[in-house]
Amino acid sequence: MALPDYLRKKKGFLELKKNKKWISWNPYHSKLSAYVLAGGPEWPFEEKSNILYLGAAEGNTVSFLSHICHGGRIIGVDISSVAMAELLVLAEKRRNIIPFLGDAQIPKKYSPHTGIPDILYQDVAQRDQVEIFIRNYDFFGPKCGLLMLKSRSSPGKDNEVFRDSKRKMESRFKKVDAVDITKWAKGHMAYYVE
Ligand SMILES: C[S@@+](CC[C@H](N)C(=O)[O-])C[C@H]1O[C@@H](n2cnc3c(N)ncnc32)[C@H](O)[C@@H]1O
Repeated sequence: MALPDYLRKKKGFLELKKNKKWISWNPYHSKLSAYVLAGGPEWPFEEKSNILYLGAAEGNTVSFLSHICHGGRIIGVDISSVAMAELLVLAEKRRNIIPFLGDAQIPKKYSPHTGIPDILYQDVAQRDQVEIFIRNYDFFGPKCGLLMLKSRSSPGKDNEVFRDSKRKMESRFKKVDAVDITKWAKGHMAYYVE
């Protein structure tokens, strides 16, 4: 994909233009940055995108999306109250982040706060992460989704896990693009779907 004008690659890293300055977006800390550096084929994020983000953690990737989608909003769901405490601090500074302490397995709990998101983004590193992603996708009906999938980290089993996940994704979605991001996020694959 052609990079939007607010992103650039420099010396193997990604940079985001923020208030006329280029700031580093570390691919080792954000799988979305890794997805771009790995040549991810689609970039669905627009100024007014509404995003449902499952596995928001402390808000590292959320903070970049909050800047990129400054006219939209990001519902950041996480199950950890420790991570949520930090996300709340970030949300106090950014008016377009809505934090939600909850379980991504139960979409109806946070659906009153989401509306219909344009994009479903998930990075929860759970055993049943593909099922959670499909459940949320079917519940909300977004235009597209990005799943950051973690293998079970069994040595030599990564390929098997990725093959099985891709098969499940392809039986549900018309378009599935798999992007290998293991160079930056060990044992991870990114999936873009529509
Ligand atoms: C790898 S971290 C996410 C990092 C984050 N996406 C980023 O790039 O800044 C995974 C997160 O998923 C959360 N998580 C795990 N299971 C979850 C579930 N069932 N529902 C919601 N969040 C979950 C964890 O608490 C953790 O904060």
